[in-house]
Amino acid sequence: MSMADDLDARARAILEKNDRGGYTVPTARLYPYQWNWDSAFVALGFATFDRDRAWRELEMLLEGQWPDGMIPHILFRRDDPDYFPGPSVWRANLGPIPSGGISQPPVLASVVRMLVEGGGAEDARRGAATVERIAAWHRWWHTARTPDGCATVATVHPWETGRDNCPDWTVGLDAMTVPDDLMPYTRMDTTHANPAQRPSTAQYDRFVAIIQAGRELSWDQKALTETGPFLMADPGLHFILLRADRDLLALAERFGGPVDEIEGWIEAGVAGSDSLWNADIGAFCARDVRGGTFSDGVSSASALAFYADAGTDAQRASTLAHVERIGRAATYLMPSWDPEHPAFEAQRYWCGPLWCQMNRMIAQGLAEAGHDALAARVRDDLAAVIGQSGFFECFDPVSGAGCIGTDFSWTAALWLEWASPSAAKGRAG
Ligand code: DGY
Repeated sequence: MSMADDLDARARAILEKNDRGGYTVPTARLYPYQWNWDSAFVALGFATFDRDRAWRELEMLLEGQWPDGMIPHILFRRDDPDYFPGPSVWRANLGPIPSGGISQPPVLASVVRMLVEGGGAEDARRGAATVERIAAWHRWWHTARTPDGCATVATVHPWETGRDNCPDWTVGLDAMTVPDDLMPYTRMDTTHANPAQRPSTAQYDRFVAIIQAGRELSWDQKALTETGPFLMADPGLHFILLRADRDLLALAERFGGPVDEIEGWIEAGVAGSDSLWNADIGAFCARDVRGGTFSDGVSSASALAFYADAGTDAQRASTLAHVERIGRAATYLMPSWDPEHPAFEAQRYWCGPLWCQMNRMIAQGLAEAGHDALAARVRDDLAAVIGQSGFFECFDPVSGAGCIGTDFSWTAALWLEWASPSAAKGRAG
């Protein structure tokens, strides 16, 4: 068996091991529930060998949708003492399944489109059944998470961006006051993973303080956006949503759906991109909505402009120059944070490590924009670190060492669907 065949077999075995009966945990113990964007990428991996199981993953995610349209970032189908904060901490019981009270990057429409366009009649049938529900989720982003007067979607919690402790959030977290009556809590993540690779205590105090604020507002999402303790606009969420709106439009045109409304979201998204342009460093950056201050570094989310087909020619040229510079500074593209920025830490979660799902989206955008060599490098660099270290949660972009979670579902899935030599024939769409 070749090394690639062996990795393919190991990747399938990881997905099967992390299957909890129709949905997949990202990894045992550290993340023992169903996570939103993890599941979407995991479906792409299952689709390479079991399309029914791929759709089941997405349908079980949709089972947790709240009446207001939000699809939560975590679904708690049972209470697991291995994880903090679990359902008794969130107390966000507004949906059919206990869940977190925030959402996560909306990649679902893009994944559904890939499955539909790469599949047959059964994929079309199951994809068509998702359109109105995904449209309701996007409507939620464009209303509940679009603050009055803000040109883009924004977020109330770093966890909602999926890029939990990225230095992008320093501006907003520093502006917060941790309440004197912060609920007492015990972290579990640092018992399952190396604490030096996880967020700091000061960051966790703020993460928990936002949950406390959400509870006090009974998880009224518009109120949390307008009055909660943290509010930042994120190029990651913005570009992923803009791309997903474009993919949802294609689905709605094919199967029926609110086409005019989606076109309005796309128009607003394209126009709003400029509000995230940090001219001081020549990149799309996170921005504190209330104070107006930009984050001062280039993140992997900055590079998603191509994936969203957003920005002016000059903005895209400047973004490309940053990606190329970072490609010279790091061994493996694309680090989650600029290696030449003082806040870079090669092995700490979102302060430097490269992540498979970001590489997948960045490379797709680069390829669509005609930057084929760079796109191939982003894919090949992910394959190289997986070959060197295995199916970790994320990877040191300098040494290639694996970091934090092991036997990680989306790393296995995106190996199968995208980075493996066998992926060209198994790709979902
Ligand atoms: C965690 O617990 O670290 C997760 O990333 C939150 O979504």
